[in-house]
Amino acid sequence: MKGTVGFHGASVPPDNFLQDVIAGLSLARKQLPPKYFYDAAGSELFERICELPEYYPTRAETELTRAHLDSIAAFAGANAELVEYGSGASTKTRILIERLRPAVYVPIDISESALKIAGATLAVEFPWLNIQAVVGDFDRPLMLPAFNGKRGRKLVYFPGSTIGNLTPEQALSFLHMTRGLVGPDGAMLVGVDLKKDANELHAAYNDAQGVTAAFNLNLLHRINRELRGDFDVSRFSHYAFYNAHASRIEMHLVSLVQQTVNVGRYRFSFDAGESIHTENSCKYSVGEFRVLAAEAGFIGREVWLDSKGLFSLHGLVAA
Ligand code: AVJ
Repeated sequence: MKGTVGFHGASVPPDNFLQDVIAGLSLARKQLPPKYFYDAAGSELFERICELPEYYPTRAETELTRAHLDSIAAFAGANAELVEYGSGASTKTRILIERLRPAVYVPIDISESALKIAGATLAVEFPWLNIQAVVGDFDRPLMLPAFNGKRGRKLVYFPGSTIGNLTPEQALSFLHMTRGLVGPDGAMLVGVDLKKDANELHAAYNDAQGVTAAFNLNLLHRINRELRGDFDVSRFSHYAFYNAHASRIEMHLVSLVQQTVNVGRYRFSFDAGESIHTENSCKYSVGEFRVLAAEAGFIGREVWLDSKGLFSLHGLVAA
């Protein structure tokens, strides 16, 4: 027996990789959106990052999810409508699905291929599960597929500290939008990486094997592959540091020499030492994140931590 899997197209226009790259490289301070890291090669590199000894977030979040499963399930309630943003490989989700037994599981991802694979695997693993996958981008308003059956609360699961990719201002409007989506009885489970010693953060984004560097540099390879770019990737280097003032890890790709680069019909010049800012990974204390959630109309009802206090999972309910 196999579960039901429905697929729903994006209710919003798809990404425009070319347009976003041209716009980002045209800025006085060049930047590229981190969502474009995740092509097939980038997604594989990210899965390897999650296994690195220095990269604690994935292990810490998996550990805390297992350790606090009883109280997480009590928070979710029966027959939840479980919606996941950026579901990817859905590893942590399996732990939740098994325990929560949600009425429906709605994975939302920009990668249709990732959704197809995850959907098919979960349907075999959980034959009783109603899966309604949505190809889309959670950074814009979206509609949840309708379904028949008992329904508990709408519960948006946003693990992995993906929310850290947003600045606090962007996170606020994102939380606001999600508050509108889940409605008055809705809730969120949000994984948030905690502030900690800058050396530990630095190590997590500058691993000894260079997997994070390869992940960052893959963005240039992707531009070359998909947008007729001619980046000489050996002339850029991975640079990640903790910006204590903004409480975030910043990843950059730094031009090692003065050079010009073409992307399709467009040409960009780089000074030696000039960088492309490719990612923010914002870190919050428990209190700071609760204040942000409250500004967006959520009450921080629960917070669960791993045994080392590295990572947090917030249980937010609509205020
Ligand atoms: C998936 C956004 C949570 O910020 O830690 C890992 C991505 N970047 N190593 C993070 C990432 C470099 C990751 N997030």
